[in-house]
Parts: sequence; C-alpha cells; structure tokens
Amino acid sequence: MLTGCQQLLTLHGPAPKRGRALAEPGIIRDAAVLVRDGRIAAVGRRRDVSRLAEARRAKKLDLGGRVVLPGFIDSHTHLIFPASRAHEYEMRIAGATYEEIARAGGGILSTVRKLRSARTAALKQRALESLRQMAAHGTTTLEAKSGYGLDLASELKTLVLLRELRRGQPLEIVSTFLGAHVVPREHRRRPDDYVELLVRRMIPAVAREGLAEYCDVYCDRGAFTVEQARMILTAGRVCGLTPRIHAEQITRTGAARLAVELNAASADHLEKINSRDIRALAGSNVVATLLPGCCFHLGLKEYPPARKLIEAGAIVALATDYNPGTSPTLNMQMILSLACTQMRMTPAEAIAAATINAAYSLGRHTRIGSIEVGKDADLAVFDVADYREIPYYFGVNHCWMTIKRGNVAYGAGPKS
Ligand code: NIG
Ligand code: FE
Repeated sequence: MLTGCQQLLTLHGPAPKRGRALAEPGIIRDAAVLVRDGRIAAVGRRRDVSRLAEARRAKKLDLGGRVVLPGFIDSHTHLIFPASRAHEYEMRIAGATYEEIARAGGGILSTVRKLRSARTAALKQRALESLRQMAAHGTTTLEAKSGYGLDLASELKTLVLLRELRRGQPLEIVSTFLGAHVVPREHRRRPDDYVELLVRRMIPAVAREGLAEYCDVYCDRGAFTVEQARMILTAGRVCGLTPRIHAEQITRTGAARLAVELNAASADHLEKINSRDIRALAGSNVVATLLPGCCFHLGLKEYPPARKLIEAGAIVALATDYNPGTSPTLNMQMILSLACTQMRMTPAEAIAAATINAAYSLGRHTRIGSIEVGKDADLAVFDVADYREIPYYFGVNHCWMTIKRGNVAYGAGPKS
C-alpha cells in the first residue's frame, strides 16, 4: 500500500476528456493506494483505505508527502534512432530551416542512412538508455514508431527490436509502422513506386508478423500527399493496423480532415490547422496530439491552437515526439511546461492530456491513464508540494519514483 500522498490526481471519470472535463483532475489529499497483483485494489483518503482488512496486512511504502499522478503516457515517439543530429541544430541556429536541411540531404534521410548500417545491438543500447531516462522522468507507457529504415529489412529490424525491448525493461511499448516517413533516396524519382511498395509488400509483411498496432504517415510538403496518405492508411486498416497521422506541421495539407475521414486514432502536430479543421476534429473521436517540443526545439513562434481545440471540444493529448530532428526530448514534464506557457493550457489540462487522453489515443484508456480501482498500478511520484509545481519549476526532473504495474521502475523503494 502506498501512503503519504500529499496530493493524488486520479483523473477519474469518463474517458476521453473534452472541454471542461479536461480541467478536473480529481484530487485526493492525504491519499493512499492499495495495490494487488499490479492493479489498483483501492484508492482514496488514507484513513478510509487503511481501514480495509487487506490494507492492514499489506506492505507499506510511505511516499513522504509527495504528489502522485498516473504515469505519463508518451503517445508519439521515434524511440529508435542511431545518433543525434546536433550539427543540424547548429545549422538552424545559424539560419537554415528544417526543410532546407532536409532538401540538402540532411534531416530524416541522414538518420535513415545511419540506421540502415547500424548494428541492432548498438540501436538497442541507445534505446534502453532512452527507456531508462523515460522511466526516470515519470513515463510508464510509450508509443514508438519505425520510420528511419524505409526499406523492408530495415523497418523490420526496427520493429523486431521494439518487440524485443518489451522484455527486459519495465515500460510498456506500443509499436507503430511509419514506413511512410519520407520517400527514400532510391525511390526519389518515382515516389508512387514507394507508395506501391508500402501498400503491397511492407504493410502486409508488418501486419503478418504482428509487429505493429498502428500505421502512421508523415503527410506534409516534402513527404507524402493526402492522396498517398489515404492509400497507405487504408491499406494499413485492411491489414488491421489503425491509422495515426503526422498532420499540418509545416503546411496545411488537409491531413487532419483525412484523419477524421478515416477515423484515425490520432492526428499529431496540427500547428497549421484552421477553424474548420478544429470543428471537424472536435466532432470526431480523433485525438488531437500536440507536440510543443517541436516548436520549441525548431525555435518556431507558432504553437498549435490548444485553447481553440479544447474550447471546441476536441480530445487533446500531449506527447514528446522524441526524435533527433525536431524534438530531442523524452521529458514529459518539459512538455507540460511548454503546454502551459506557450499554449495556455492549465497544469491540470496538460496532465490530463499527457495521461488519460493519451491512453485513449493508444486504445488503452480502460486499463491505464488514471488512478482508479481495477486499472494497472502505473504511477509517477513527484518531489513537489503541489502538482502545479511540476510545470512551474521547469527544466528539472521532479520525478522521485515511477511505478509500472505495481513494481518500482525508477527510484528508491523495494525492487521487485
Ligand atoms: O514528428 N516530421 C516528421 N517526423 C518527425 C521528425 C523526424 C526527424 O526529423 O527525424 C516529427 O517531427
Ligand atoms: Fe513524429
């Protein structure tokens, strides 16, 4: 049993959360959580929970008056990559844009060149270190995309590695096939041939091996068109892969509307959406996943219109977009800070977006994303006096302990 929770944010109630419901975190003061077999058996005021017979017998862990949240759910990452692109960071500071660097052969394609020749063991070492860091910052579940292979063998290498990473470390990983990240160099003269390859060979092969739950497309200038994205995501759907989409990041293409048309799980980025797109998303079950780490890292002024999306009633989620090109952070606390100061989300809204709504976008809201009886005991404990201090004291790690399915994944306390 966990005691000594000064504030516990349950995020209970109907999921996903839209509009005003996003701002109601369901706080319990001086709370306790009873965990049985990795699941939450009871949650409430300490004096109520500790009266239960099972609570009296249970092993106790005193959290020392700290703040407890559901573990973060990072619903958009590119976990597997071979190296940083710190030199591009410096080029951008000197004035080059993300698109210019990509057109000159840098960007995603430079990571693809390196990943194709990288040894799996080296990729695995890097990924394990990232996962360890994620756990240390309060993340308990993440989505991870392929997309730096862009040929069948290298995409499979990435997805098989993701499958392997599910064992031997505590975090839960949800796999997404992003073969449609950009058109690889060998197909650059005939992009439609690559779309054909994706549709006829790569997607069926990934689905046959059960290597992904989702299929994603980067639909933007310099990547794939709406028509190509429709073909790819439809082929994925036929093979049992649910669509997600990188939409309206650099230019407005109509990708968010495509997400609604295809009933995608999520439309991500959305920096360039207009008011009709906002209405369309609000009227759908497509999650609007905002990635403010990209705008921050690329030094852009324009963040996605979070307030308008929330006020229209869209399902808003937040994620890191951990990747070497546009958002090299895996720290969800930093994403909360950016959401609050740059997109005017309240700390409570940002936390709901980073937990229960992100769980919904991964089809796991009935099992994770809130602290409720019957759900997995996935918790993050922060060394602050009030949950608002997590984004407020920005740029440092407040996470004191992370618990996945009742086991300590990071921090002190009994290892099991
Ligand atoms: O989500 N924009 C497309 N994909 C990534 C960037 C990947 C990269 O630059 O390596 C994103 O921002
Ligand atoms: Fe991304």
